[in-house]
Amino acid sequence: MRLDKFISHVLNLTRSEAKTLLRKGEIQVNSSVVRKGDFQINPESDEITYRGGTLEYEEKVYLLLHKPKGYLSSHRGGVHPSVMNLLSGFEKHKLFIAGRLDADSEGLLLLTNDGELAHRLTSPKYRIPKKYHVQVEGVFEDSDISLFREGMDLTDGRGNSYRTLPAKLEIISKNEARITIFEGKFHQIKRMCSAAGKVVTRLVRTEIGPLKLGNLKPGSFRKLNPEEIEILKKECT
Ligand code: URA
Repeated sequence: MRLDKFISHVLNLTRSEAKTLLRKGEIQVNSSVVRKGDFQINPESDEITYRGGTLEYEEKVYLLLHKPKGYLSSHRGGVHPSVMNLLSGFEKHKLFIAGRLDADSEGLLLLTNDGELAHRLTSPKYRIPKKYHVQVEGVFEDSDISLFREGMDLTDGRGNSYRTLPAKLEIISKNEARITIFEGKFHQIKRMCSAAGKVVTRLVRTEIGPLKLGNLKPGSFRKLNPEEIEILKKECT
């Protein structure tokens, strides 16, 4: 691998920022200063150091999981098992869960060790759409569409009040709808439906930005392919 590629990957820098570090003589390969970006290294066997610390190469991993009901979107289990129990072969990776789902919710969950991307996917600043299929007790009325579109005043899990960003409600039948939100506050869909006088009885996340749950079986997961990763990163800039 090229040294500038390695540096930009590990330190999360652009290629030109990595080259600047190299030019300044801040990077050592096996105890010798190397200034050339195209210098070839083997991340497994060479020791690359920066300001006295060894840089560890960690392959970026992006997993799409179909979370079934009854699993916790956390690293440890409790009353229910953790979604981590559904993954195998990724124990050594420090995966972030990008946008949690409640224990009784289902659907698309993205797990990645790309902390920046995980943050962007959930930050309201980037307005990444999350699409949910909901079933409720109660009846969706056309008048609910503007309620969701105008935003609602809700309180979060800590008692702070906030106004939701405009959301999209598409009614499928009297008790079924597709809802798109652009943020991910605590129990947001349940709270929005409750503010519209309905109780959610089933909640499935079907999409996050360009990612779709598709026909992935409940409890199973797959790696994103390179094209999906590129599109996802582009949407989060
Ligand atoms: N909104 C909710 O209320 N619950 C979820 O699990 C996800 C979004």
